[in-house]
Amino acid sequence: SSNKLLIKGGTVVNAHHQQIADVYVEDGIIVAVNPTITVGDDVHVIDATGKFVMPGGIDPHTHLEFEFMNTVTVDNFFSGQAAALAGGTTMHIDFVIPINGSLTAGFEAYEKKAKKSCMDYGFHMAITKWDETVSREMELMVKEKGINSFKFFMAYKGALMISDDLLLEGFKKCKSLGALAMVHAENGDAVYEGQRKMIELGITGPEGHALSRPAVLEGEATARAIRLADFVNTPLYVVHVMSIDAMEEIAKARKSGQRVIGEPVVSGLALDESWLWHPDFETAAKYVMSPPIRKQGHDKALQAALSTGVLQLVGTDHCVFNSTQKAFGIDDFRKIPNGVNGIEERMHVVWDIMVESGQISVTDFVRLTSTECARIFNIYPRKGAILPGSDADIIILNPNSSFEVTAKSHHSRLDTNIYEGRRGKGKIEVTIAGGRVVWENNELKAVPGTGRYIQMEPFSYVFDGLDKKDASYLSSLQAPVKRAKSTA
Ligand code: URP
Ligand code: ZN
Ligand code: ZN
Ligand code: ZN
Repeated sequence: SSNKLLIKGGTVVNAHHQQIADVYVEDGIIVAVNPTITVGDDVHVIDATGKFVMPGGIDPHTHLEFEFMNTVTVDNFFSGQAAALAGGTTMHIDFVIPINGSLTAGFEAYEKKAKKSCMDYGFHMAITKWDETVSREMELMVKEKGINSFKFFMAYKGALMISDDLLLEGFKKCKSLGALAMVHAENGDAVYEGQRKMIELGITGPEGHALSRPAVLEGEATARAIRLADFVNTPLYVVHVMSIDAMEEIAKARKSGQRVIGEPVVSGLALDESWLWHPDFETAAKYVMSPPIRKQGHDKALQAALSTGVLQLVGTDHCVFNSTQKAFGIDDFRKIPNGVNGIEERMHVVWDIMVESGQISVTDFVRLTSTECARIFNIYPRKGAILPGSDADIIILNPNSSFEVTAKSHHSRLDTNIYEGRRGKGKIEVTIAGGRVVWENNELKAVPGTGRYIQMEPFSYVFDGLDKKDASYLSSLQAPVKRAKSTA
């Protein structure tokens, strides 16, 4: 039957342990993980001998059905999730964008879009303006709507970008709510100026995208966000870390004891900027995303940072536009909708460049693609683990068979693929989402309406809203330095 499932003989991998074991699932929940489990005839058995049985991937960064740059992404909450399932990802966290500054209206719109979901999902919320209403709505989102993270855009001037005073207000509010502050770190004013300069010089093609917003602007904004988060003393999550410049700021902050999390995305780990110089506009335009994919060298440095723990988890920033949409910018790179694919390719590409290359272990792979995300957003061990009581979101990867990426057979609605032609060892042969086998024998059985909204609880501080650093600062103010009067 479909509600009882036994995965036999595989190597079960969690972030901190692996063992050869059977996994028994009933009604969407993992019931037992033991070396030998015997079951009756009514149980569907999957043989995983010689294969890895791992928690389904969790993508911390996606944009499905996202209205952006005068158009909307081609993947919606069904097609994007179907693609994810075919690639071994069983949950994603998408970004709710407020409508005219209203968080509630934005949330309701995304609730509606997500009704067709075929896998579990959660939400981050973007903050695009600031007033008393936004402040109150943030509280509502955390206390009643299951959101525990807010993203602030330091770029996209004239659209999503916010100024430093708003960033400070937002960080303070996040701290008081026990929510995680996230930043898109690029200096939006400088990017705007860089873009203007490129157009003035007659550089209108996709290479102008890279030239107009160099890594130094990502480094500057990352450093600024880190310092402001330090000033407020709240944890910070830097999304899509694309450059050595940004990564090194994160490394420095972490070394000094600051709570900063860095999320590289697959495109930044696996590709380089040379694509933006491709003579064919259509080819070059599909690589346009922000911050840009960087020069050769940044990719390898980000991989190394991931393998050593300087960066903690891998996202995709899946945000896809067809060739016809990318062509809006044929005469002006500023009008190319920003975004690339990855939700379907993340697990395979990360396996290929990180595990097959010998940079990380299989347990590390589980941590970077699933467990760490679940921990950061407070949904572990319901998600991100193969343990009794966890949701039965499970993948089976065969290290001896091969994957190949091509737009001809991928499941996204996108008409291109930035990983076109990429192949490697390590294929996800089975995906189980909520106890249902949704991907097997290269066949996808995604069912609209089966995905659930996963509420994410905030974190709390022991000092009743104040942490130790604040407490010692305040007590130092209460004991001002006493100086002797002059006796002259
Ligand atoms: O180019 C990108 N990254 N598009 C999606 C929006 C964002 O900044 O994450
Ligand atoms: Zn069955
Ligand atoms: Zn962003
Ligand atoms: Zn994004």
